[in-house]
Amino acid sequence: MTIGIGILGCGAVSRMHMKTYLQLAGLCEVRAVYDIDSRQAERLARWEGSSAEVCASWEDLLARDDIHAISVCTPPDLHRGPVIEALCAGKHVLCEKPLAPSLDDCDAMIAAARENGRLLGVAMQTRFNRDYERMKRVLDSGALGPLRFAQLNATCWRGERYYEAPWRGTWERQSGGVAINQALHALDVFVWLLGEIESVQADMETVQQGIEVEDVAMAMLRFRGGLPALFGCSVNAVRSEIRMDISGYAKAVSYPLGYHTLLVRDGDSVAHDEAAARELERIGNGSEQAGNQEPGDVQIRLMNDFLRAIAEKREPAMNGAQGRRVIEVITAIYKSASTGERVQLPIDTADPWYTTSGILKHVRRAR
Ligand SMILES: NC(=O)c1ccc[n+]([C@@H]2O[C@H](COP(=O)([O-])OP(=O)(O)OC[C@H]3O[C@@H](n4cnc5c(N)ncnc54)[C@H](O)[C@@H]3O)[C@@H](O)[C@H]2O)c1
Repeated sequence: MTIGIGILGCGAVSRMHMKTYLQLAGLCEVRAVYDIDSRQAERLARWEGSSAEVCASWEDLLARDDIHAISVCTPPDLHRGPVIEALCAGKHVLCEKPLAPSLDDCDAMIAAARENGRLLGVAMQTRFNRDYERMKRVLDSGALGPLRFAQLNATCWRGERYYEAPWRGTWERQSGGVAINQALHALDVFVWLLGEIESVQADMETVQQGIEVEDVAMAMLRFRGGLPALFGCSVNAVRSEIRMDISGYAKAVSYPLGYHTLLVRDGDSVAHDEAAARELERIGNGSEQAGNQEPGDVQIRLMNDFLRAIAEKREPAMNGAQGRRVIEVITAIYKSASTGERVQLPIDTADPWYTTSGILKHVRRAR
């Protein structure tokens, strides 16, 4: 069966959804789109040869029987409502990141999927990067031994033009700044690689004028088992890059992908251990050499998995629970940066920072 797709919100990211659905034409067809701005909807409906119709309202989109799944591509404050409405209308949902501004919202969306027997996927495509999968294989194999240090730096540049969209730069509409919008992808991978976080000590700053969300955030993360890790992110960096280092004793993996080893003698490093590095690389590659890889970039792999999950009646790899996990870490970063306290995880449902209204009331704003 061809999966009928609808798209809500026809801005920048929706074009990536449309393009990818068109590339997956054997599995699905985008049949209708809706945006509060009809020009945006008209433009997306004609994007790259699409034959989608423009719906007159969100209700019209929801009412169509030929639409089985909806991509929700609206700003972050407009994820919870439409996602729950779509799930209750019997549609599967692929929601753009961040899943929601708070854990309360995430839990309500996850519950709506469960109660309506529909799938909730989250568009966090970075997880499908094959180099991260290689790092994961090495970590899961235990080849690095007990971990001793990890760090993640996620930097890029966003100028004044970026904040011209009315929802950007504000806590109410964007849910936060660089941590929840740009660094979320890499932070999600970091947590996926390293496991549960026990506590967070963080700070944040806003350097750019005229916005109230953070454009720099830094944190000391402590993972369960005691691993200390550094996290830093900024949208004020001229160099755009993700850097990750995960070290055991004398063995490490990094992103951009690298395998690093030291030959240690009498407690001192005497050389690079080439044989040990090749062994880490062999573990990282896993069974890839057997030619069992399906093709595609991260966006295709994410959406292909979502569509196949619908067809196979299974959870997508990037489901609501996965999308929630990084929101908990980011909530802890915002809470710690606002209160100055070290924050213990998990965040309890009675904690004011569990809800969106609690976050908006307590978060430290730049203006
Ligand atoms: N996965 C990624 O890598 C990635 C990249 C960019 C953006 N995003 C996410 O995608 C979402 C949208 O970002 P964008 O850059 O496309 O924003 P955008 O401003 O370009 O587009 C948002 C669209 O939503 C429409 N909209 C607003 N309110 C609406 C409503 N009530 N009903 C219907 N349509 C409405 C707007 O008219 C606009 O066309 C955000 O959550 C953002 O974080 C994800």
